[in-house]
Amino acid sequence: MKFFLDTANIEEIKEAVQLGLVEGVTTNPLLASKEGGKDFATMIKEIADIVPGPVSAELVSTTFAEMVPEARRLAKIAPNIVVKVPISIEGLKTIHALSKEGIKTNATLIFGANQGLVAAKAGATYISPFIGRLEDVNVDALQMLTTLCDIINIHGLKTEIIAASVRTTAHATQAALAGAHIATVPYKVLLAMVEHPMTDIVNRIFMDAWNQSDLK
Ligand code: G3P
Repeated sequence: MKFFLDTANIEEIKEAVQLGLVEGVTTNPLLASKEGGKDFATMIKEIADIVPGPVSAELVSTTFAEMVPEARRLAKIAPNIVVKVPISIEGLKTIHALSKEGIKTNATLIFGANQGLVAAKAGATYISPFIGRLEDVNVDALQMLTTLCDIINIHGLKTEIIAASVRTTAHATQAALAGAHIATVPYKVLLAMVEHPMTDIVNRIFMDAWNQSDLK
């Protein structure tokens, strides 16, 4: 499973890339709005220049007639830009049109397996089922993710599944077990995956023993 970082924060991205774990970035209008201070195209270009992989930038227009030209503008920002398209009828038409132009897409705001299936059939490069926000409304998100992974695998569909709206290290584990190709995670979740209280406790025991010995 690959890890993408779910943020628009340049400093977090720079630090995470240094860990050697991050192979892409996903943004969305909420994450972008938290950074401010620059226009969106500049923000995405800065991110695309430092990330060694796909960077998702989300459309904000809502009709096919507007979404396709907006997507072309985003795709021109950098070669590793992936256009994030909210799943809808207009979104599916946009995904299908962009797939014929060779523009990579990430179908987002997916809360049901069928949404992921139709997005994959329309030609989405990636599909992003939301885990955390589905759990927020008391729906079994792991069941949906597992079903979607099974459907994509059974039918040999080419799209890659990005487990999104990951809130905890448990979500990351569940995404890996379900067979998601990618988990896009907040930086704090990525860091939390590295740490465990027992590691610190036992390391202290080892260091104390070393420091009390005559080995040094
Ligand atoms: O960026 C897509 C998704 O990961 C955002 O999820 O729940 O943090 O808004 P959330």
